[in-house]
Amino acid sequence: MITTPFTARATAAEVLTGTDLSGRTVLITGGSSGLGRETAHALADAGADVTIAVRKPVASPTQVGRTARIRQVELDLADLKSVRRLVEHWNRPLDALVANAGIMAIPTRRVTPEGWELQLATNYLGHFALARGLHSHLAHAAAVRGEARLVVVSSGAHRNAPIDREDLQFEYRAYDRWAAYGQSKTADVLLAVGAGQRWAADGIVANALNPGFINTGLQRHVDDDTMRALGAMDEEGNLIEPDYYKTPAQGASTSALLAGSPLVAGVTGRYFEDNQEAAVVADGGHGVAPHALDEATAEWLWLYASRDLD
Ligand SMILES: NC(=O)c1ccc[n+]([C@@H]2O[C@H](COP(=O)([O-])OP(=O)(O)OC[C@H]3O[C@@H](n4cnc5c(N)ncnc54)[C@H](OP(=O)(O)O)[C@@H]3O)[C@@H](O)[C@H]2O)c1
Repeated sequence: MITTPFTARATAAEVLTGTDLSGRTVLITGGSSGLGRETAHALADAGADVTIAVRKPVASPTQVGRTARIRQVELDLADLKSVRRLVEHWNRPLDALVANAGIMAIPTRRVTPEGWELQLATNYLGHFALARGLHSHLAHAAAVRGEARLVVVSSGAHRNAPIDREDLQFEYRAYDRWAAYGQSKTADVLLAVGAGQRWAADGIVANALNPGFINTGLQRHVDDDTMRALGAMDEEGNLIEPDYYKTPAQGASTSALLAGSPLVAGVTGRYFEDNQEAAVVADGGHGVAPHALDEATAEWLWLYASRDLD
């Protein structure tokens, strides 16, 4: 098991203290809000040349971040044409790709033009296409510096939802917003497992993580009753933060660690939470479920998704 000195309460800046990322190039999806923004700032403050990939670029770069080093590119993960455009325009070695953007609990089943259920398309397929498309740039960086990194932001919600190989897109079973989110987050872990296997010889490591619970824009589709059941809303509808909630800066720490810290150099195909590798737990409320680390399912999913990209 990989361990680090950092607790669940460490911030993204703290896990990178003393780390110099000058000359490293990092691309972060969903980097204009929530955990992505905190991850971008921490990596940029450590010296990295950070680009955020966002649906709606802002007019002035000064609105993007605290440092001048953060650039932005346009990306809609639910639109494969948009992913292809970013890939075609990318022209530099890439030291780390942080697949962070996501949506959660979309109330009704929606599909992309390719027929993918929207949460799976956004959280998984778009990131798969992006990582695959940028593979040569990751490999180039790895050839120069010995290693490049793919970091995939998953969620503890993966534990409730294995991949349903018979009905990945909720075409035959009843759509369930949480099952769809959970399955997309299992797919995210399997993306790291698959890339870890396939790209090891290229010097590319890939890991997934659960950031914990953090109040961000992600909860916008969660109804009030569910928020109350989570302890995140009072009877009057005010947002409250239970003790186990983290700040965005704390929630971004495991992403920053995996993208930039020398403490995890060479580590691949694993799932982290609270800045530690998580235990494999079959039926628990914590850790990583065996179905998310299953190499055969990772291979099946890789081939299934590749069919829509080739
Ligand atoms: N917050 C938590 O408690 C928690 C827990 C477990 C896992 N996570 C994971 O953490 C990651 C970050 O979430 P967050 O909490 O920081 O939520 P957030 O503030 O809502 O950030 C999500 C980001 O994803 C972007 N995004 C959504 N759909 C996109 C698309 N089609 N193309 C490109 N970008 C898109 C959003 O951009 P727009 O502004 O354009 O919508 C936003 O910048 C997600 O993968 C989420 O599943 C969060």
